[in-house]
Amino acid sequence: MSKYIIAITGASGSIYGKRIIDILLDIGHDVHLIVSKTGSQVISHELNIPYGNFIDGFNYSQNLHVESEDNFFSPVASGSFKTDGMIIIPCSMGTLGKIAGGSSDNLIVRSADVCLKEKRKLIICPRESPYNSIHLKNMLALNDSGACIAPISPGFYNFPKTLTDIIDHHCSRVLDLLDIDNEHTIRWGR
Ligand SMILES: Cc1cc2nc3c(=O)[nH]c(=O)nc-3n(C[C@H](O)[C@H](O)[C@H](O)COP(=O)(O)O)c2cc1C
Repeated sequence: MSKYIIAITGASGSIYGKRIIDILLDIGHDVHLIVSKTGSQVISHELNIPYGNFIDGFNYSQNLHVESEDNFFSPVASGSFKTDGMIIIPCSMGTLGKIAGGSSDNLIVRSADVCLKEKRKLIICPRESPYNSIHLKNMLALNDSGACIAPISPGFYNFPKTLTDIIDHHCSRVLDLLDIDNEHTIRWGR
């Protein structure tokens, strides 16, 4: 089984991060989860989980490794710890800007920097609207450095009926980018 780093930041849409983690754990993959400080507040607000206990909202699994945003001694801070890629979902404009600027000043930004330098897959799912030119330039810089920008923007061509359909469709398309087999979307032409 493979190892993935999943980061949840303080952008709206923490349900997407939770869903992708649940899918990866269900398949049996290892997940190293990093949640930013604001990310844990937004999880609490949007998923109605008491603040400070965000982990209670995730299905328990021995394959889930929770990493502190401040812990640069974590394995995922080093390129010598091999992973199969990283997904930042949802990604705030703040974290996106820090990665583009190379600041590496928390474990999310450092792990993303490591993925780029090691030529590993980095999928960034920004959530903001509208974008200003700083956001757009940062996204272009990250794309040019090897990241894949996969914005959270729902599609309606498969006639979603529930919020779960919409969330699963995006999560499934993101997992496709990492070549992770999954059956959580209705594929066009099937
Ligand atoms: C309820 C809530 C929703 C937010 N939604 C967004 C958002 O969709 N996109 C965004 O870029 N920032 C959003 N923010 C602001 C970020 O949380 C803020 O810029 C923070 O500094 C991001 O830090 P982080 O990237 O370390 O999590 C939101 C904040 C709150 C409290």
